[in-house]
Amino acid sequence: MTNKINITLSATKKEKPNADQLEFGRTFTDHMFIMDYSAAKGWYDPRIVPYEPISLSPSTMVFHYGQTVFEGLKAYRSSEDKVLLFRPDKNMHRLNLSNDRLCIPQIDEEFVIEALKELVSIDKEWIPTAEGTSLYIRPFIIPTEYYLGVAPSKYYRFMIILSPVGSYYKEGIHPVKIFVENQYVRAVDGGTGKAKTGGNYASSLKAQEEAEKRGYSQVLWLDGVEKKYIEEVGSMNIFFKINGEVITPSLNGSILEGVTRNSILHLLKHWNVPVSERKLSMEDVYNAYKEGLLEEAFGTGTAAVISPIGELFYNEENIVLNNGETGELTKKLYDTLTGIQTGNHEDVFNW
Ligand code: COI
Repeated sequence: MTNKINITLSATKKEKPNADQLEFGRTFTDHMFIMDYSAAKGWYDPRIVPYEPISLSPSTMVFHYGQTVFEGLKAYRSSEDKVLLFRPDKNMHRLNLSNDRLCIPQIDEEFVIEALKELVSIDKEWIPTAEGTSLYIRPFIIPTEYYLGVAPSKYYRFMIILSPVGSYYKEGIHPVKIFVENQYVRAVDGGTGKAKTGGNYASSLKAQEEAEKRGYSQVLWLDGVEKKYIEEVGSMNIFFKINGEVITPSLNGSILEGVTRNSILHLLKHWNVPVSERKLSMEDVYNAYKEGLLEEAFGTGTAAVISPIGELFYNEENIVLNNGETGELTKKLYDTLTGIQTGNHEDVFNW
């Protein structure tokens, strides 16, 4: 199915941005990985080439019906100058789950991790080392058949691009204000919510735009049927700490299984903190708040790692958490997880 990776190094090297200029996803490294797919050949011609624009016919399927999948993971450079990837196997496994949902052929997970390692090691000098920075890795697959019929493409392109990044939010790890969305929904049961596909993000933009106009950073998504149960926050999974127990919505088919979400669950269990994955309604959260039991809330994702929630706007009322400050457990989780990711904290899980 796959073979040796052909490497063509770039003749010139681009200037690297200073750590304080790094934004999320605006600068790209010198190289990228590509491989193509056809039914006859399977995945073929894996190659690392200079990062440059690609040329596609306007009829290429990627421009029309959104049959795309992507992943996001990060590489860090440790104080001993070692390159550290965080749980890449989880991302590549999830990519195949997304592929299945979008009728895209499966990839060889192990081979793609090897390709990713090769690419990151070629562009190693691009991994920033300042606190809060990392190299964001974006694997993605697009359909490349020239055809306007609504059907799975017969041809695909898999690519990996790399971007040195600073904090995902301008606010860094400061608590954000969240608008509980009661009109738009992100995903529904039986839809594509658990796949990492472009359409989920496109359909979130309108609510996000309206929330921003009202002065909120993100929206909290409720379930698509009753608009009652909590699903995600922005493009992240969500956790609440209520009366000593940490709760995150259980994976119900419309929630993405985040790698950070999974890591947080492991950490909490390791620390013997009571934790459960279950259905949680916004009303439950509101009642806990009224009883003085709502302690902390935060979003989790690869890009921001952990994003504390300072305020929730729900039913014309402002729910302020922990006086709008980052909670103690939220901070401990952030420090431990980023410590493990950067090689500065013991990693009992071998992540
Ligand atoms: C993440 O939290 O990593 C995300 O999914 C956001 C990404 C689409 C930029």
